[in-house]
Amino acid sequence: MPLNKSVENLSEDEARGELRRLAKVLTNSNVAYHSEDKPNIDDATYDALKRRNQKIELRFPQLKLPKSATDQIGAQPKEGFQKIQHTIKMLSLGNAFNQEDVNDFVIRIKKFLSIPVAHPLSMVAEPKIDGLSLAVRYEKGKLVHAVTRGDGEIGEDVTANAKSIDDIPITIFDAPDLLEVRGEVYMGHSEFTALNDFQLNSKQKLFSNPRNAAAGSLRQLDARITRDRPLKFYAYAWGSISSPLGRTQTESVNQLKKFGFSVNPLFRRFETTDGLVEHYKYVEKIRPDLGYDIDGMVYKVDDLALQERLGFRSTAPRWAIAHKFPAEMAWTQLIDIDIQVGRTGALSPVARLKPVTVGGVVVSNATLHNEDYIRGVDSKGHKIRDGKDIRIGDYVQVYRAGDVIPKVSDVDLSRRPKDSIPFDFLKKLEAEGIEGHRADGDAVWRYSGKQPSPYLAIETLKHFVSRQAFDIEGLGTKQIEQFFDRGWITIPLDIFTLKNKYGSGQALQLKNIEGWGTKSASNLFDSIDQKREIPLNRFIFALGIRHVGEGSAKLLAAQFLTWNNFTRAMVEAVPESEPWEALLNIDGIGDVMAKSVIEPFQDVAQLNEINALVDQLVVLPFEQINKANSPIAGQTIVFTGTLEKMTRAEAKARAERLGAKVSGSVSPKTNILIAGSGAGSKIKKASEFGVRIMDEEDWISLIEET
Ligand code: IVH
Repeated sequence: MPLNKSVENLSEDEARGELRRLAKVLTNSNVAYHSEDKPNIDDATYDALKRRNQKIELRFPQLKLPKSATDQIGAQPKEGFQKIQHTIKMLSLGNAFNQEDVNDFVIRIKKFLSIPVAHPLSMVAEPKIDGLSLAVRYEKGKLVHAVTRGDGEIGEDVTANAKSIDDIPITIFDAPDLLEVRGEVYMGHSEFTALNDFQLNSKQKLFSNPRNAAAGSLRQLDARITRDRPLKFYAYAWGSISSPLGRTQTESVNQLKKFGFSVNPLFRRFETTDGLVEHYKYVEKIRPDLGYDIDGMVYKVDDLALQERLGFRSTAPRWAIAHKFPAEMAWTQLIDIDIQVGRTGALSPVARLKPVTVGGVVVSNATLHNEDYIRGVDSKGHKIRDGKDIRIGDYVQVYRAGDVIPKVSDVDLSRRPKDSIPFDFLKKLEAEGIEGHRADGDAVWRYSGKQPSPYLAIETLKHFVSRQAFDIEGLGTKQIEQFFDRGWITIPLDIFTLKNKYGSGQALQLKNIEGWGTKSASNLFDSIDQKREIPLNRFIFALGIRHVGEGSAKLLAAQFLTWNNFTRAMVEAVPESEPWEALLNIDGIGDVMAKSVIEPFQDVAQLNEINALVDQLVVLPFEQINKANSPIAGQTIVFTGTLEKMTRAEAKARAERLGAKVSGSVSPKTNILIAGSGAGSKIKKASEFGVRIMDEEDWISLIEET
C-alpha cells in the first residue's frame, strides 16, 4: 500500500486506484474483525488506512465509491453486544437416554409430590429443537428486547436481529403488560443448504451444520446480514410475566400461538409414560422429513402449579427432561493416541482419528477416558466391548451425543492390522517425558512432575477467564496463549497486574505487540478492570479447585457468605476439626470434595498466591436469594421426623429457594429445627442449644407468607 505519497500530491488516476485498493483492504479487514473475530491488521494501521481513505475522498469527492469504507458501519472497533441480565435465569435440561431414565424421572416427580406411583400424571411432549434459546420481552404488547441465553444469567442483546425473524411478532395484542416469551431460534434444512451455496459462491466460510449457521446469523453485529438469513423461531416457554397465560403448559402454549408465535405442531399431552415414549418413537421415525434438526423430545409436567412446587435444581428444572435420540455413529481409523494433561492434573488419553463426519460435524479427536477403557475393562474390572482393547491403527466406532466430546464405542477386530500391539500407557508417558502416577483404586493417571506443567498452567488460566468464572471480554484462549508464551501471564494474578507492567509508560508495552494497538490494548485493560469486582461464588469457581463446579461453588458461597469467612474456615478445616465437620455438614459436599477444597488453603505457596490475587480484587459477598422478603434467608434449617404435607425433598428445596441452608444435624449454628411427627433426639439437642423449634404447620405458614 503506497502510504508514502501524501494525499495532496496524488493525481486523479492514482487516487482512483488507491480508493479501490483501500476499499478492498478495509472491507476484508471489517469481515475479519467483525464476522470472523480474527483481526488481520492492528487497530492503528486500520485507523491510518481509514483516515487516508477519507482524506482522498475529501479531495476527490467525485471518486467516492458507492460502498465507501468510510460509510460502513462496524468500522469502529468491535464493542460486541450489550449484555442484559435475565430476570429469571435461563436453565438447561436434564437428560434421559432410554425408557428407563424416563420412568425414573416420572417416578422421581411423583415421589417428590407424594403422588402414588400408579396414579396418572399429565405430561406434555414436544421436539427438542437443535438451535439456540432466545428470550423475547414484550412490554404492553411491544417487543422491547431479545436476549440470547448466554451463561443463563446474562445474555446478549440481539433485539435488532430478532426483529427480522418472521416467527417473532413485533407487536402482540391483548397481551399481559409484561410478557417474556422463550423459545428456540433455528435454521431449516433448505435455508441452510441455500446459505451454504451462497457462502460457497461468494468464497466465504461454510457452516458445519444448521445450528452453527443459526448461531452465526443471530449473533451478527450487522443486523442487515441477519435479515438475509432466514431464521425461524418456535416458542415453548416464558420467563417474567405479569399475569399467567394459563393453568397448564398446554393452555399457555395455545395462548402463545394465539399471540402469533409459531409453536411446534408435534406438541402433545399424555397421561402415562408409555404415551410419551410412543410419541418419541413416532417423532424419531419422521425426524428425517421434518425439515429442521431436533435432537430429542422434551417432556414437561403439564400442571403449572405442580411445576411451581417441583421447582429447580441448580441448573435444570425438576419438572422437565430431555429424552435424547440415540447418538449418531461412524467408523474411522485411529491414527494415534495422545496424552493430555488436564487442568486438575489428570492425564487423559485422546484418540486422534482420521477425520469423519458424525451427525453433520467433522470429528478428528475423541476421548478414550483412561487406561482401563483402552484395555477394555471398566473401573470394577468388568469387561467392556466384550473385552476388546483399542490399538493404534484400529478401525473404531465413534459417536457424539449432544454437544459432548466424541467418544469411541467399539473396535472392528476384523480390520485390525496384523502388526498392531496393545497400547502401553506408561511407555507413552515415558516417551513424552510426562511424569505420572496411578494410585491404587484410581482409574486415572495423574501428573506428578515437579515442574508445574505449562499445559496445566494454561488450562488453569483458560478456566479462570471462562464465561462462568471471570468472563473477561477480549481475553480468550488465543490471547491467554499469546501472553503465556511471552511469560506475561503465567498465573491468574498476572492478569490483574498486566496494565502496571505492560501499560503506557512502561518499556515493554502491550500496544506495540503484534495484533494489538492503542485502542485494543486499552480496551483489554478496561475489561480487566471491570472484572475486579466478582461475586464470591464465581470467584470460588474460578480458582479451579478439583471437583468444585459451579453448583458446589455456590453451595460453599451460600454457606460462608464472605471471602474472609471462607478462607478462614478453609485454613482451619484440617480433618477432624470443627470447621472440617461444618464443611462436611453442607448438604452436597462430601469427603472427596471437602479434601480438595481445603488443599490450596493449607499449602503456604498456594495460599500466598491466592491472597496476592485477592489483594487485586473486590470479592463481593454472596447475594442471598429474596433477601428482602424471605424470613429464612441465610438461616440454617434442620428437618427431622416425618412431614405430612410435603416430602422431605420438597421441603428442602423450598427452604433453599428461600435462601436458607439445610443441614443434616443440629448444632449451635442451627437457627430453626422443623420437627415433623415422630421427631426424637434432635428436639432435645435443639432445645439445649436454644434453637427455635417449629412444627409442620408453622413451617407451612412460614413458607406461604412469602
Ligand atoms: S424447555 C427450563 N422445550 O434445550 C428449561 N427447551 O438442553 C425450559 N430446547 O436451553 C426448556 N427445544 O434451549 C424446552 N421444546 C423445548 C426445547 C428446548 C429446545 C433447548 C433449550 C434449552 C435446552 C436444554
